[in-house]
Amino acid sequence: MDIIASVCRQAHWESPELQVFLNDLPQNDFNTVFKSIPAFNGKPCFVAGVAGSFYQRLFPSKSIHFVHSSYSLHWLSKVPRGVEANKGNLYIAKTSPPNVSKAYSEQYRNDFSRFLRFRSEEMITEGRMLLTFIGRSITDPTSKDCCTIWDLFTKSLLDLVAEVHWIGV
Ligand SMILES: C[S@@+](CC[C@H](N)C(=O)[O-])C[C@H]1O[C@@H](n2cnc3c(N)ncnc32)[C@H](O)[C@@H]1O
Repeated sequence: MDIIASVCRQAHWESPELQVFLNDLPQNDFNTVFKSIPAFNGKPCFVAGVAGSFYQRLFPSKSIHFVHSSYSLHWLSKVPRGVEANKGNLYIAKTSPPNVSKAYSEQYRNDFSRFLRFRSEEMITEGRMLLTFIGRSITDPTSKDCCTIWDLFTKSLLDLVAEVHWIGV
C-alpha cells in the first residue's frame, strides 16, 4: 500500500482505493482474522473475507487484479486414491510404496491446474499472481529439506495411537 501510494504521488496520480479479499476454508475462524487486522491509518483499503476452497470459483469473472497465495497451495483438496498401502506414514516417506509419490503428484497436478484455471477466469487481463508454497525434489521426494516435519508428526501420532491402545480405549 505504501509503495502504491508513493508511485502514485511521484506520477501525480490519485491513489486507488484498494479492496482486499482474504480467503480461507469456511471452517476458518474469520472473526479472529478480522480482529487482528491493523488499522490502515486512513489509507483507502477495504478488507473482506471470502470463505471457500481456492480449488473452486471464489470471485466474479474478470474482477481480480492481483492474487497472492502465501504458504497454502501445498495443501491438497483431498487424500489421493491409491495410498491405502502407505501404512504407518503421513504423506510421502522413505518407507512409502513407490505408487504413493505418483498418487500425490497426480493429485497435485489436478489441484494446481484447477487453481490456475479458476483464477484465470477471475482475473483481469494482465492481472498478476504471486504464489509462495512448499515444493519437494522430484529426484528425491523424501529429501530431508522438505519432509522432516512430516516424519516428526507421524512419530507423534503413532505414539498417541499406541497410548490409546495401551489404556484400552
Ligand atoms: C499455513 S496457513 C497460511 C496462512 C497465511 N496465508 C500465511 O501466509 O500466514 C495455510 C492456510 O491455507 C488454508 N487452506 C488450505 N486449503 C485451502 C483451500 N483449499 N482453500 C482455501 N484455503 C485453504 C488453511 O485453512 C490455512 O489457513
